[in-house]
Amino acid sequence: MKPTKPPRDSKIAVEDLTERQAGREHARLEAEIKQHDEAYYQKDAPTVSDADYDALRQRYEQIEEKFPDLKTLDSLSRKVGATPARGFAKVRHAVPMLSLQNAFADEDVAEFVGRIRRFLNLKEDEPVVFTAEPKIDGLSMSLRYEGGELVTGATRGDGAEGEDVTANIKMLKEVPQQLKGKNIPAVCEIRGEVYMTKAAFLELNKRQAEAGEQLYVNPRNTAAGSLRQKDPSITASRPLHFFAYSWGEMSEMPADTQSGMLKWLKSAGFQTNPLWRTCKSVDEMLAFHRDIGLERAALDYDIDGVVYKLDRLDWQQRLGFVSRSPRWAIAHKFAAEQATTILRAIEIQVGRTGALTPVAKLEPVTVGGVVVQNASLHNEDYIKGIGNDGNPIRGGTDIRIGDMVTIQRAGDVIPQIVDVVLDKRPKSAKPYAFPTVCPACGSHAVREEDEAVKRCTGGLICPAQQVERLRHFVSRDAFDIEGFGEKQVQAFHADGLVMEPADIFTLPERDRRSTKKLVEREGHGETSVRNLFAAIDARRTVALNRLIYALGIRHIGATNARLLALHYGTVEALRAAALAAVPPSGEKGDKGNDAWQELNSTEGIGPVVAAAVVEFMQEPRNREALDRLLRELNVIALEKPRGDSPVAGKTVVFTGALEKMTRDEAKAMAERLGAKVAGSVSKKTDYLVAGPGAGSKLAEAKKHGVATLTEDEWFELVGGSAK
Ligand code: IVH
Repeated sequence: MKPTKPPRDSKIAVEDLTERQAGREHARLEAEIKQHDEAYYQKDAPTVSDADYDALRQRYEQIEEKFPDLKTLDSLSRKVGATPARGFAKVRHAVPMLSLQNAFADEDVAEFVGRIRRFLNLKEDEPVVFTAEPKIDGLSMSLRYEGGELVTGATRGDGAEGEDVTANIKMLKEVPQQLKGKNIPAVCEIRGEVYMTKAAFLELNKRQAEAGEQLYVNPRNTAAGSLRQKDPSITASRPLHFFAYSWGEMSEMPADTQSGMLKWLKSAGFQTNPLWRTCKSVDEMLAFHRDIGLERAALDYDIDGVVYKLDRLDWQQRLGFVSRSPRWAIAHKFAAEQATTILRAIEIQVGRTGALTPVAKLEPVTVGGVVVQNASLHNEDYIKGIGNDGNPIRGGTDIRIGDMVTIQRAGDVIPQIVDVVLDKRPKSAKPYAFPTVCPACGSHAVREEDEAVKRCTGGLICPAQQVERLRHFVSRDAFDIEGFGEKQVQAFHADGLVMEPADIFTLPERDRRSTKKLVEREGHGETSVRNLFAAIDARRTVALNRLIYALGIRHIGATNARLLALHYGTVEALRAAALAAVPPSGEKGDKGNDAWQELNSTEGIGPVVAAAVVEFMQEPRNREALDRLLRELNVIALEKPRGDSPVAGKTVVFTGALEKMTRDEAKAMAERLGAKVAGSVSKKTDYLVAGPGAGSKLAEAKKHGVATLTEDEWFELVGGSAK
């Protein structure tokens, strides 16, 4: 999609807009804000910087102030956040979860205090106390306790209704299941922030990078994504924390000040942020803001400002609320940590699964006390000025090498390029052409429909992907060579002995001729080498479905490999079909040629999978590597499922955290035994195998009267036939 030019109304100052222009501009801003909200709340993947979002929102509200007719009942300014995401039950908050007004300048804080004094009609010498607390950049959570026991955990959602994430929130160690202390009110709705530490976020991203997966953007969105998992055991595996700072419905109040409430929350068993303090003047408030600002980079969690709250709760009550925020509190935001520098180059990194990720190489610059030389450019579209949703970002401005760019470290641990200083664009700067071939191996790189990521198709030969591909090649559902696991793959690859699958099978012969024999190497005794070579030889005869699976073609798991093996019968037939296939050109009525249609209409195989097979086979380097491999193998027809097992012909669903086998292993085992593995429970399900943390599927199974097994009971059932 080409970026469209932003409409001209957006350039006009609010006070100069005519009524018609204002109407148009209001509607345009509303649509844009809604899209950003959806990306942020529903997908946990923001499409604009916080500062840009705030600017859109501010302009939207300014227009409504000047043209009050535009502020209809469903105006965004009357709502907080976004409607709950699908997939979770809704929870209506007993007391709405509101938002805070923002202050950016010191004067805004003085004005806030002045407003409160005037509203309450206080004498000049009447002391007014505020609490000042760091504003945690996480996601807000409401925890309902009845009789001291946790009953519900809900996200903010649109402020009135959130998502029920009770099962997930119970996985957090810092969320007490039971409140501590005497005289606990019968109903307590405790509010606070769920967050992930910067260290945990970096660690998680390190693992993503090692697995060749896309990196998470920032701790906030990762925390949100971790909490909104359908499977609570995934939430449990992510280190999430919780700070309590506020409340909703309370049947009684244990204190009469905000500071008293913070102390009570702590005594009841919550973590409260240790940095809060009370302030008796604007000067003290600003000093706290400055101090926390200096400490910010060293904290292990992201904060984006300071929240000041009037300490006396009776005064809070008198002040009440205005539209979506309280009059008695304000968020004093930190300026985003930004800097400008020159973009020297764009480097393409190839991940272990072939994803091509552009990285900006910058003239080093200090941002918020940290020297930055690299920044994320996300993907091809981001460089062109197109957001995830196909709409322009940065007003549609592309990023070019040589450009002066604005980079930001606002809560984000990975610095981002947020803008281009167009006035400083050198004449020599040309639009960046994203590579069409993989920089690591020269194979062609493709983008799947609706995917932002471009991927290398040279799976078998790409050096960036080799280790991962070899590991997959020898894995249990693929060649399953005994004694040839991940460690051996790493070691043989590092020594240059095994670079592609065929090398595994030529290894024994090469070793015989070599002067530097394997047995002479550390960790390899004569028996172990003999056993290894025997295990390799034992796998020269392989079932076609295992071979297809082992190639590591995108989207081809064990099930799809079986379907293709069943339909085409030989690897030659599959390859010939993929080579002959011409997918639809995208023109109306074009359905692709016959070979494409056959591949695409093979039972269970859709266009995305078919395209992946075509891309793989049409890359000559893959075909050459496959030829070298086939010379070593004896491929036999499809491995038949075992018809004699107790689960043959049955439909099985696995759920929860399995402890004795991975989900993939469980699936492969069931399929080997002739069972069909389904993703969801229905009337047709015969067995549900449930590990700890099983949730909605267990309830479904009960509803349909489906037999439920523990992992041990499953092993008992399949017994000896599992081997
Ligand atoms: S008090 C009536 N205190 O900031 C408002 N909020 O922009 C009660 N936040 O939705 C909120 N740290 O998610 C409060 N110490 C703190 C906070 C805090 C972070 C978040 C919260 C809220 C948002 C408002």
